[in-house]
Amino acid sequence: MLGHQDVLSHIQSRKKNYALDRELYCDPGTYQADLEQIWYREWLFAVPAAELPKPGNYATLQVGAYPVVVIRGKDQRIRAFHNVCRHRGQRLCSHAHGLTANLVCPYHQWTYDLEGKLLFARDMGEDFDPSKFGLKKVHCLDMGGLIYICLAEVPPAIGELAKNAMQYLAPSGLNDAKVAHRSTIVENGNWKLVMENNRECYHCGGSHPSLCRTFSDNPKIAAMDGPHSASPEILTHWDRCEAAGLPSRFVFDKAFQWRLARIPLLNNAESYTMDTKHAVTKKMGSMPFYDAGSLLMYHYPNTWNHFLGDHAITFRVLPISPTETEVTTTWLVHKDAVEGVDYDLNNLTEVWLATNDEDRQVVEENQKGILSPAYEPGPYSPIQEEGVIQFIDWYCDLMAGRLAPKPALAAE
Ligand code: FES
Ligand SMILES: [Fe+2]
Repeated sequence: MLGHQDVLSHIQSRKKNYALDRELYCDPGTYQADLEQIWYREWLFAVPAAELPKPGNYATLQVGAYPVVVIRGKDQRIRAFHNVCRHRGQRLCSHAHGLTANLVCPYHQWTYDLEGKLLFARDMGEDFDPSKFGLKKVHCLDMGGLIYICLAEVPPAIGELAKNAMQYLAPSGLNDAKVAHRSTIVENGNWKLVMENNRECYHCGGSHPSLCRTFSDNPKIAAMDGPHSASPEILTHWDRCEAAGLPSRFVFDKAFQWRLARIPLLNNAESYTMDTKHAVTKKMGSMPFYDAGSLLMYHYPNTWNHFLGDHAITFRVLPISPTETEVTTTWLVHKDAVEGVDYDLNNLTEVWLATNDEDRQVVEENQKGILSPAYEPGPYSPIQEEGVIQFIDWYCDLMAGRLAPKPALAAE
């Protein structure tokens, strides 16, 4: 198991624009360093707000060693807490989702309200002060209908992303949406392989026959250098969408930790369906037309998303072990859309269920090959894998900065 300095030296000795050393994709010490330096410090996408429509609706997630519960309060606000009882530490909620009036610990029934206050603890004696034993808070932010959490005491700045996300997501009306379907799969690969695979479409032609009916794998179509420079097809799409009130132009942060842009689908396809037509008759929010393409949003380390005219799909990545990663996909539709009337669930979900499974297979085979002693990092394609290069640069720069020994304070 690598120590922090070994992880740092693998990062520092990497060949630029090449895949990483094996140790960075499978070693338990690297995994621990990733958890401590990234997963416990960055903002993470937890759930779409639409997953918690009513007060008392909750969802749980596991971030490394931390169980977290996200819950909507009576005041409609969504909060996040450490999912750990303040009595003897029982995990409070063991279900992935639920609806509850209060959070009741299954061990000795200490009872917390939806805002985390301890309401009831039996036979704790006269000196016991329940106000000292409320649930521990986790930072929580609603970004236009996407709920983010951060485990750090002091979270990193997220204002720029939040401002842009709220503006770009507004027409999608995520707070007037409902969950049509959710799938959680485990991929036997390191979380970075899952993200790398998402950041390129070099593999799409060979792996994703159904997605490729509607999603272009031409890197020129997805390439955007700025809000005014992209392929003519994209510029035309931006003009049309923006004239209809849809913020569309490429926005991103300097380190490429996040990016938003609306891209057209192939041949005016409307949605990710086998017949390329919309899957849901009720459009999302105030979307003006079905063929608005896909608003792409990613944020490292753990999410990518597609917001279309007729539905939205969120993806959440969580590491489980050095070589296991959970991927949760959630399909959102307008809250008034009725299954069987306005949409057929199979038609809505089949392309991305297939695509996720295809991606799982390539990630798992990628991990198996990397585990071979014969593996040697190879070069990324500068034409096809620009997104992977950006992700790996983001990862290495962040880790190098955080793992570097801090200069000792000069003696006074
Ligand atoms: S551990 Fe929760 S009530 Fe005892
Ligand atoms: Fe893929």
